[in-house]
Amino acid sequence: MLTGNIQRDEFGELCFAGQNVRSLAEEYGTPLYLMDADRIRFNCRLYRKAFQESFGENALPLYASKAASFRQICRIMAEEGLGIDTVSRGEIYTALSAGFPAEKIYFHGDGKTDEDIRYAVSARIGFFIVDNETELECLQAEAAAQGVRQKVLLRITPGIDPHTYEAVNTGKVDVKFGVPIAEGLGLRFVKKALAMDVIEVAGLHCHVGSMVFDEMVFEDTVDHMVSFMKELHNTLGFVTQELNLGGGYGVRYLESDKTIDIPARIKALAEHIRQRISEAGLSMPYILMEPGRSIVADAGMTVYTVSTVKHLTGLKNYVIIDGGMADNPRYCLYQAPYTALPVSCEEGSKEVFDLVGRCCESGDIIQPEVKLPANIKRGDLVAVCTTGAYNYSMASNYNRLGRPPVVMLQGGEHFVAVRRETLEDLCALDV
Ligand code: LLP
Repeated sequence: MLTGNIQRDEFGELCFAGQNVRSLAEEYGTPLYLMDADRIRFNCRLYRKAFQESFGENALPLYASKAASFRQICRIMAEEGLGIDTVSRGEIYTALSAGFPAEKIYFHGDGKTDEDIRYAVSARIGFFIVDNETELECLQAEAAAQGVRQKVLLRITPGIDPHTYEAVNTGKVDVKFGVPIAEGLGLRFVKKALAMDVIEVAGLHCHVGSMVFDEMVFEDTVDHMVSFMKELHNTLGFVTQELNLGGGYGVRYLESDKTIDIPARIKALAEHIRQRISEAGLSMPYILMEPGRSIVADAGMTVYTVSTVKHLTGLKNYVIIDGGMADNPRYCLYQAPYTALPVSCEEGSKEVFDLVGRCCESGDIIQPEVKLPANIKRGDLVAVCTTGAYNYSMASNYNRLGRPPVVMLQGGEHFVAVRRETLEDLCALDV
């Protein structure tokens, strides 16, 4: 099976995190997001242990909550000792209201508004990750007004191509995020930040992309960042105390995808950082990373009920389900691959179908050309695997569809972490 938490029982029925998927669908209805909390914790521990072994106490993994943000996930992150990367007031509020410690919240974003800045300063979050010079000026004014000394990391664009799809490629020199090292722009940015009296520059941040598989991407990033750190040290006497290398490790959506051995990658990366830092004559900074997808993706599964099966003889076969692009827009946006499985026994002949949603546009595709039982029919259940990252968080109410609930599976138990949106919820904001 694609991930270790997917199995079939002795009757061939699909199980996720050791629990029968059909029974869960009967109890909670479909479409249904399932989240394996034990797997999330396992992934958190994998990062924590790898960081501990590779960097000692001098490092912290942050969870990039854009991958999936709701209170129960934030509680897990607090319990597992990770920090949290946020990108909006909504994500900060979610974390704080789940009891997540403010000092371990890092606030990202290239378009922070005055309200965002005011809110985050007054919430006393640990760090702003400042994207640009305008933000620096606004933050200086707001922090001064609130009498706060605000710690920041400065977002730098190292000029790296991580070889991933364009929408998530953020390392190249001309992207909209951060300030490039190139053209002296990075140096000017740091100089400006150092001149601000209530801003304390703890270090630098970079993030080059998501779904990164290439072995050397983080190493190349380190090379660029360390040489910039050296330049800052030599020209401004600035010591980079913290270096945040962003998120981005890819995950398996298909059986044919590569597996990344994250602990091994982190160990190799740590050695590389140590070597480069010592060659540069600098002292080892506190290391941060911001994994999102690789913490929650394989903890997710979405369960749908088949509404219609269409055989357009000689043309195409469709399986139409009770969800679609509103709960998972990733194929529509990125042609993202997914593995779909029938919930009941897989034996018998198969046919190729486009697995499509119920929204009123022909682009509403979850996955083209999937093999499903030839006799699949209305009422059957289909599971889509590896939906834990960027599905719930990117879901919409398009066509006024209510978002599915998120049901957490933990230690053989299950409970609702986010309830299903009702018709009243859909009109709750209408006047
Ligand atoms: N840090 C920063 C600054 C980021 O922008 C991101 C992702 C992460 C960390 C986490 O990256 P991860 O470990 O999850 O790859 N909606 C797209 C993904 C967008 C990623 C945006 N930034 C998708 O569904 O594939």
